[in-house]
Amino acid sequence: MLDRTAKTFFHLLARSRTLDKLASRYGMRRPDSFARRFIAGESVQEAIEAARAIEARQMRLTLDLLGESVTNLEEADAATRLYVAVIDAVVQSGIERNLSLKLTQLGLDVDKASAVDNLRKILGRAEPAGFFIRVDMENSPYTDVTLEIFETLWSHGYRQIGVVLQSALYRSEADLERMNALGARVRLVKGAYKEPKSAAYQDKADVDAAYERMMESLLARGHSPAIATHDPAMIDATRRWAREHGVAPNAFEFQMLYGIRRDLQTMLVNEGYRVRVYVPFGRQWFPYFMRRLGERPANVSFVIRGIVGEQR
Ligand code: FDA
Repeated sequence: MLDRTAKTFFHLLARSRTLDKLASRYGMRRPDSFARRFIAGESVQEAIEAARAIEARQMRLTLDLLGESVTNLEEADAATRLYVAVIDAVVQSGIERNLSLKLTQLGLDVDKASAVDNLRKILGRAEPAGFFIRVDMENSPYTDVTLEIFETLWSHGYRQIGVVLQSALYRSEADLERMNALGARVRLVKGAYKEPKSAAYQDKADVDAAYERMMESLLARGHSPAIATHDPAMIDATRRWAREHGVAPNAFEFQMLYGIRRDLQTMLVNEGYRVRVYVPFGRQWFPYFMRRLGERPANVSFVIRGIVGEQR
């Protein structure tokens, strides 16, 4: 992981509305733009093309229409309508029906009831069409409310939805036991956000140790477990534990982000594992992009080379 100061810096940039606007205007103009390494494009058609290429590599996918932290209900309604349009486009295209979304994109910061209504609208269109919808996990102030909304929908009979738990948070192991008992589908991640000491482990070694414990619990007692990481150590630990405990390679899946460790993605598929690629797209790509830069110094130099190249 990048050193903590740099991570904080990128997380501050991620929240800048001015940079977000500038990036949306200029960042993706050229087909060889630096942002395209991590983002499939701004339109749903570009995302569908990327998805087809992923399926041709024998991998599964989840599409994520980027957006988060909307500040009024009009924006939340617009995001909901866009998601419904994405559902229709995916159905037409014939690619796998699997989406990820964020609750703050649907208005959670403005009004919880409206965000839930918006999610229900999306599910109302998605579930009959056979979609699976993963509710991404945002930073720790949203953990309780995200799980509460998920559990309420679950109690109302929605079954084609899943959650994400972050091994960085102290609370996540207990949350995982509850989700496993419920029968919910969990994606396990380390956690992409800068979190305070009061809520989260600060050392990579502790986050990784928690990840391994949660991976074991998920493979032993979970439902359609999703092990989402690019970390070769976590991937090895998962393969080893599965092998030693008789868990078949097709009983769980690895998940990775678009544009990251394609070599590992291909290697796992060749070994008979299921791999799902998370395909982000849309105009609001800037905060997502900043989080990816904050994860790895090499990505920053890649982008700088890209920008210098673009100015030539
Ligand atoms: P870690 O950051 O420890 O990196 C291990 C190794 O992986 C690195 O040495 C490098 O080789 C490679 N790597 C990692 N990140 C890279 C990058 N950006 N570029 C290039 N190489 C990289 N988080 C969250 O809080 N909520 C969520 O809902 C989700 N959803 C989600 C879905 C999917 C499918 C994935 C794969 C990840 C998420 N995440 C997430 C992000 C997650 O929490 C985490 O921030 C990243 O996956 C990076 O952590 P790693 O486990 O990859 O390991």
